[in-house]
Amino acid sequence: MTGPVLAVDQGTSGTKALVVCPERGVLGSAFAEVRPRYLPGGLVEVDPAELYDSVVDAGRRALAEAGTDVVALGLANQGETVLAWDPADGRPLTDALVWQDRRAETVCTELADHAEELRQLTGLPLDPYFAAPKMAWIRRRLTREGVVTTSDAWLVHRLTGAYVTDAATAGRTQLLDLDRAQWSPRALEVYGLADERLPEVTDNAQHIGTTTAFGREIPLTGLCVDQQAALLAQRVTAPGAAKCTYGTGAFLLAHTGDRPRRGTSGLVSCVAWRLAGTTAYCLDGQVYTAASAVRWLTGLGVISSAADLDPVGGAVPDSGGVTFVPALAGLAAPWWRGDLRGSLTGLGLDTGPGHLVRALCEGIAAQVAELTDAAAADLGAPLHTLRVDGGLTRSALLLQTQADLLQRPVEVSALPDATALGAAALARLGADRTLGVEQALPDGKPAAVYEPRITADQAAERRARFRTAVAALLGT
Ligand code: G3P
Repeated sequence: MTGPVLAVDQGTSGTKALVVCPERGVLGSAFAEVRPRYLPGGLVEVDPAELYDSVVDAGRRALAEAGTDVVALGLANQGETVLAWDPADGRPLTDALVWQDRRAETVCTELADHAEELRQLTGLPLDPYFAAPKMAWIRRRLTREGVVTTSDAWLVHRLTGAYVTDAATAGRTQLLDLDRAQWSPRALEVYGLADERLPEVTDNAQHIGTTTAFGREIPLTGLCVDQQAALLAQRVTAPGAAKCTYGTGAFLLAHTGDRPRRGTSGLVSCVAWRLAGTTAYCLDGQVYTAASAVRWLTGLGVISSAADLDPVGGAVPDSGGVTFVPALAGLAAPWWRGDLRGSLTGLGLDTGPGHLVRALCEGIAAQVAELTDAAAADLGAPLHTLRVDGGLTRSALLLQTQADLLQRPVEVSALPDATALGAAALARLGADRTLGVEQALPDGKPAAVYEPRITADQAAERRARFRTAVAALLGT
């Protein structure tokens, strides 16, 4: 089947919509901003109506720019963001608790004795980042009848009336049996959610329903959590390579084949996608704040936007001994200490904006390097390629720092919107069962490759400085 598709990436800070044609590339694109509220105590909320409106707004504008019909819709979602809603009319009953929200820490503390059992069952550590702790937190307080789900299930219900979630998004809850890619009765029982009315778990490419929200009838045929959609678009479809998306946070994913790999290095083991009933798996590690750390630096007035990273950081040769641990919303893999906060050390009277910018880039890159090493350790072999995408890849300083600290080439995707293109590929696969995965994927040629420019000893020294700063936070 040929014909353009509408791909929508509903992310934390906004929704990107693309109209993608297999022959002619991107015909239309639009972005609609979303403004989560960052509140004291690590709370991060967003009005669900903003999420839905941004999907419709960006989708309609992309279609108008493309001026063409589309044969299918693919939707990527932000993963672990949760809300309660009324299935009778789709009305939200709560705000959406964004994946960065830490309020379900109390649920995790209560369930600490079940942490290892849950990790074995679901591949995920016990942490409020995931959906289930937030679902339990909401369920305990909900006084009205309603369902509690990840944001994708609500969006899809509003768009098509279906009550579903895809296997990859379900894998972000800590309620999915990792080996069977189905809801786990035991995990539901542990969370006190055994009576929950849960959405049906679907493949990532299949006909879900039809929407008229964009002013015409469009079949929804592709669904995926955003990081896995980017993994697919980056053509990481077999073990050996990894991708990192530098968005609100930075997310490293490595493909592990058709069996889950429960490693010992602290990464998440989860579903990459399920296509035609066959499940592929990946390892996943997170830096909770990447672009949101840049936004924080902007808020302090050190730079005026992310576009300043290279000119301001490039004005000095190094970080001047300043070390930054980007744990502004807690430390995720491989340490899982969401209760900790970031640190900035080595400040002197001579510290200037350039040093802070370099320290920030180095902190993000150093943590991604830790995650890459952890993935290689779990896989038992080095990762031959790191493919990168996301808004922050516009910073040559960040990418050069990444290659330097990894001591390995970093391939920059030519696809600035890899997540949406992954959703587009899934929509095409779901609409045309004769299409092979390779045929549905965009060209994987990188736009640029960054080679390491410092010696292994220099890289080791900088990474040791970062580890010391993390150890100081951990109190080890
Ligand atoms: O796990 C959350 C992550 O997938 C959100 O990504 O692009 O919305 O920051 P993004």
